[in-house]
Amino acid sequence: MSLLLGFGLLTCIASSESSSVFVLKGQDVRLDVQENVTLKELELFKWTFRSENILRCTDTLSVRVSPEYNNRLEFYQGNFSLLLKNLQQNDSGPYTAVLNGDKEKTIIAYQLIVQERVEPPVLTVDSNSSINATCNVTVTCRGQNTSVTSSCNSRICSQVGGESRGAETSTVRLLSVYVAGGFIICNHSNQVSWANDTKEIVELCPMKSVSPPAGSMSVCMLKIILVSVGLVIMISAVITVHIRDRFHYG
Ligand SMILES: *[C@@H]1O[C@H](CO)[C@@H](O)[C@H](O)[C@H]1NC(C)=O
Ligand SMILES: *[C@@H]1O[C@H](CO)[C@@H](O)[C@H](O)[C@H]1NC(C)=O
Ligand SMILES: *[C@@H]1O[C@H](CO)[C@@H](O)[C@H](O)[C@H]1NC(C)=O
Ligand SMILES: *[C@@H]1O[C@H](CO)[C@@H](O)[C@H](O)[C@H]1NC(C)=O
Ligand SMILES: *[C@@H]1O[C@H](CO)[C@@H](O)[C@H](O)[C@H]1NC(C)=O
Ligand SMILES: *[C@@H]1O[C@H](CO)[C@@H](O)[C@H](O)[C@H]1NC(C)=O
Ligand SMILES: *[C@@H]1O[C@H](CO)[C@@H](O)[C@H](O)[C@H]1NC(C)=O
Ligand SMILES: *[C@@H]1O[C@H](CO)[C@@H](O)[C@H](O)[C@H]1NC(C)=O
Ligand SMILES: *[C@@H]1O[C@H](CO)[C@@H](O)[C@H](O)[C@H]1NC(C)=O
Repeated sequence: MSLLLGFGLLTCIASSESSSVFVLKGQDVRLDVQENVTLKELELFKWTFRSENILRCTDTLSVRVSPEYNNRLEFYQGNFSLLLKNLQQNDSGPYTAVLNGDKEKTIIAYQLIVQERVEPPVLTVDSNSSINATCNVTVTCRGQNTSVTSSCNSRICSQVGGESRGAETSTVRLLSVYVAGGFIICNHSNQVSWANDTKEIVELCPMKSVSPPAGSMSVCMLKIILVSVGLVIMISAVITVHIRDRFHYG
């Protein structure tokens, strides 16, 4: 029932030393060298992963790719960008662009984080009630190994019982429960994907405006009673007059 939507290829969060890059498993990512690199004679440029060389490029632009990455990357000699393809969980980690001249100089560092698409959450209704025409629905939303219980009215939801269970073990996954457009929505997300489950509020808290038809019904009943009583009185009157007339002339 739930719709899954992945967004973008990646999300960058700049930090002082290395930028974190989040990528959905199976997708590609391009790591750029954000400056103009020119190789002087005998200088060597390289991309590394966990201090292993992925590729090396000499000043004569001869490129050597590590056999492990043979069909998994593209290297753009024009700007030294690296395209990594079909990323898997174990591709997560630090990537650095290094210039090897008289000294070794790190040009840029990235922290790559490969994430799986989140599973769609399941939103269940624990209880529903109406107090003074204010709807109160208690729902629990469960995603992989997190769950959160919230108390909602037709406008807002507030979390019940502090931290969502399991949240402490999964820093990257997030469950949020809120109300929008007449629906209670549970959104399960990480940095690269999200999925939701929803419940329509009207179905959980039927409006009390079912009374107008009942009201018009009683007015109708009242009319019928009044008319009936009137008829009975009239008929009794006619009969009384008739009997009296017969008594008079009889
Ligand atoms: C999840 O959100 C999308 C976009 O708002 C919506 O089209 C979809 O119907 C939602 N999923 C469910 C199960 O309601
Ligand atoms: C890189 O070089 C190009 C021209 O070769 C120049 O337009 C651009 O501003 C340079 N960028 C940086 C960051 O130095
Ligand atoms: C590097 O070159 C590739 C291929 O020409 C291009 O797609 C990419 O945008 C370039 N990167 C930057 C940072 O300009
Ligand atoms: C990641 O795992 C795959 C197999 O699942 C393996 O072929 C590959 O070499 C591993 N990559 C790294 C960088 O360890
Ligand atoms: C419901 O309304 C009555 C009268 O307006 C009030 O006394 C009572 O506190 C209300 N109850 C709740 C739960 O809001
Ligand atoms: C809503 O219902 C829950 C459970 O029945 C209760 O704990 C909570 O206090 C109620 N909230 C309001 C605003 O009435
Ligand atoms: C959370 O769920 C994932 C995927 O279902 C699983 O691999 C992981 O072991 C679980 N973590 C915990 C702490 O249960
Ligand atoms: C779910 O959360 C993600 C990340 O916070 C957000 O981008 C997305 O729009 C949300 N989806 C819905 C249906 O609210
Ligand atoms: C609670 O939900 C059920 C099923 O959706 C509905 O029939 C019932 O009227 C609701 N109760 C209240 C008090 O809103």
